[in-house]
Parts: sequence; structure tokens; C-alpha cells
Amino acid sequence: MIIRFALAKGRVAKKAIELLVALGYIFEDYSEKSRKLIFTDTTGTVEFFLVKSPDVPIYVEKGAADIGIVGKDVLMEHPAQVYEMLNLNIGRCKMCVAGFKDRPILYGKKLVVGTKYPVIAKEYFHTKGQSVDIIKLNGSVELAPLIGLSDCIVDIVESGNTLKENGLNVLEEICDISSRLIVNQVSLKTKHELIDPIIKEFKTQL
Ligand code: PRP
Repeated sequence: MIIRFALAKGRVAKKAIELLVALGYIFEDYSEKSRKLIFTDTTGTVEFFLVKSPDVPIYVEKGAADIGIVGKDVLMEHPAQVYEMLNLNIGRCKMCVAGFKDRPILYGKKLVVGTKYPVIAKEYFHTKGQSVDIIKLNGSVELAPLIGLSDCIVDIVESGNTLKENGLNVLEEICDISSRLIVNQVSLKTKHELIDPIIKEFKTQL
């Protein structure tokens, strides 16, 4: 039996792999530069593959992966039938509304919002009774207010450097974000002898 991990490519995967290595798993053929997508540890117990972060929940829901490591932002944006077992406290950042400091949000007037997170943005402004036009973007979201595409953005802020370098500021904080360990609902029952100790080991690293 093998435990398959789906990891969100990028910052989260880097930290998640560090955690797996700290737990004693050795992935001989893994290097950051590798274009390979699947890596198996030397004991053949654990395998991980790298996917785009929005795809992690569906890989786990469908059972293609037993465990997934992905940001809470992705789980909020792409809800899935999985068990959220652990807050790994890695990849910590904040979901924020950002824009120009001297142009605070004028509630009541229709707001144009650029974001990679339309579900989160819609829900946030909806609870405030604010009508919004959401423009779904796939990256470089900070550009939207700079060139007049939107009034503000909803995005994650980690170091704050991207906002700072583009003359933008956090206007409102929506919630804290960090990476979560999610588990397939069937695997938790059928592979519990393997999954339980892995989760316990992860807990020791927190
Ligand atoms: C994310 C996010 C911000 C930036 C925040 O983008 O969408 O643009 O990181 O990080 P910071 O506060 O540390 O600057 P990402 O790097 O994933 O690239 P993208 O714009 O291509 O989505």
C-alpha cells in the first residue's frame, strides 16, 4: 500500500516537501528544477505529485490522492468533499482587499473587483450588502487597479512586497490563510494504518 500526496506546486509544495523530508522520507530523484511530476520515497511508502493548487481538492476528493496539502484560500474557493485534518501553519498569509490608500472603498456604490478568487470576493462583499462586479483574473492581479480595470482587488498578501512595489495598500483584511492537510474520505477509513501515523508525524512538526 502506498500513500499518495497531491501538493500545490510552488511555495506550498516546497514547504510541504521540507516537512516530508524532516519526517524521514527520502526522495532521491526530487530536485526543485526537475520537470518530473511524481516522486516516490526510497521505502516505496509515500509518493507525491505536483499539481496546480486549484486542482488539489479535486484530486483528493476523487481519491487520485489520499492526502493533499493546499492553502485554505484554495479550499474556500474550490470547496470539495474532503476531510480537513490539520492546519500546517505553513504558507501563512492574509486574504485582503487592496487598492489605493487615498481611494478607500465607497460602500453603496457599485464596486469593480479584480481577483483570482471570485467565490471568496463575492461572498465577502455579499455579506456586507455591497454590490460588486467581479473580474476573474488568473495572475498579476495587482495590475488591475493600476490600469483602471478595477477599483480594488481581493488577493492574498504574504510579505506585502507586491502591493508595496506597485503603490497599493491593504484596505481591508478578510481572513488569515495557511496550508491545510486534507484527506480523502474513503482513504481515511481504508488506509488508516498508514495515514494515522503520517498525520501524527506531521503534528510533531507543528
Ligand atoms: C501571489 C498573490 C500576490 C503575491 C503576494 O501571487 O496573488 O500577487 O503572491 O505575495 P507578497 O505579498 O509576498 O508579495 P503569485 O506569486 O502566486 O503570482 P501570480 O500573480 O502569478 O498569481
